[in-house]
This record gives sequence, C-alpha cells and structure tokens, in this order.
Amino acid sequence: MRAQTSTPVNEIIATRRSPRSFNADVTISDSDLIAILEAARWAPSAFNGQPWRYFVGKRGDEVFGQILSSLGEFNQMWAKNASVLILVASTTVKGDGSVHTDYQYDCGLSVAQLTIEAHDRNLIVHQMTGFDKAKAQSAVAIGDELVPVVVVAVGTQDLPEKLAGPLLERELAPRERLPLSTIVVKGLPA
Ligand SMILES: Cc1cc2nc3c(=O)[nH]c(=O)nc-3n(C[C@H](O)[C@H](O)[C@H](O)COP(=O)(O)O)c2cc1C
Repeated sequence: MRAQTSTPVNEIIATRRSPRSFNADVTISDSDLIAILEAARWAPSAFNGQPWRYFVGKRGDEVFGQILSSLGEFNQMWAKNASVLILVASTTVKGDGSVHTDYQYDCGLSVAQLTIEAHDRNLIVHQMTGFDKAKAQSAVAIGDELVPVVVVAVGTQDLPEKLAGPLLERELAPRERLPLSTIVVKGLPA
C-alpha cells in the first residue's frame, strides 16, 4: 500500500514496504541478486570502513536453511518462502585495530541501498532482527571476527490471502509513521 506522504517523494520510497507474503515458487535471477549486493556495496560508511559482510542463501540450499533455523518462530512462518535469505554480519574492529562504534549504522545504510535496488527490480525485501544471533553465528559459521546484525528476506510478492491470522492482518494494514512535526524537532519549514 502506498504511503500517505505529506508531500510527494521518490516513488520507491512511497511504495516500498516490508511484506510477508513471499511467492514460494519464484527464484530470483543471479543478475538481480548480484545487482542488489552491488548496491549494498556502494553505501557510504564512516571513514569508508565498509564493515558489512553478506552471507547469502537461496531457498533450498544449505545457507538458506542455516539462516532460517536462526529466525524466531513467527519470522520462520513467512520467511521460509523467500527466494533468498541474507545474513548481514559486521566487523567490529577498524583497520587500525580500534573499536568500530558505528558498524550497525553503516550496515543499516548498506541494507537500505540493497532494499531500494531490490524494490526497483520489482522484488520485495523484509529485514529482521527477530533471530537468535548466537545460533546464526554458529549455524552459518561466520567466524569470531564478525557479529550478526540483521537477516534480510528477498523475493517476490504473493497474494496477501496466502497468509492467515496475524500475518494476513499485518500484510493488509496501512503503513504508518510519526508525523513530520514529531520527528523534526527543530527547523521544519512552516
Ligand atoms: C532493523 C529491523 C528489524 C526488523 N525486524 C523484524 C522482524 O524480526 N520481524 C518482522 O516481521 N518485521 C521486522 N521488521 C520490519 C518492520 O516491522 C517494518 O519495517 C516496519 O513495521 C515498517 O513497515 P514498512 O517497512 O512496511 O514500512 C524489521 C525492520 C527493521 C528495519
């Protein structure tokens, strides 16, 4: 559902949403997959540190199963139908050995770019922090130098009616946001 924006904005920003009805029969092409990862690659980051590392599983393969097994029960119910599950992990130490305090912010920017590129290719994306990080760390064997940050489901939209109960309710609910006057604490033009 299109966002009720207070003024027109970029079409992708207005129409992007985080759906849960993924089409379990569809696979995404390698060229689309590489393109969304390339978009993630070109995100800005503090001191160009690029702390993000991507672990990609396609539905049916081993990595997909490993990532899926780390998700909370609610998320597993719908994310199992995604074409791709991506675990985004991060380095927490900079090249000079100092602690990287901004790694989560940087990873968020990288995933935001992946999301916009995916949406532009008629794919859908749903990010999740509802997963067991310790389980993901060991199941996907990401190594001790990285920490899990977020899991991203990517795929193709299916009919909302393929979901039931609270999943269906959320799929049909309008997208809502705080008003601009709340989030812009000072300096909002009248
Ligand atoms: C960091 C992050 C973590 C999220 N974790 C979950 C999650 O575990 N399960 C879920 O169903 N949705 C999750 N979401 C989706 C949000 O609920 C969703 O983005 C929010 O309600 C706004 O909806 P919209 O993206 O459709 O505009 C997450 C989103 C973000 C950005």
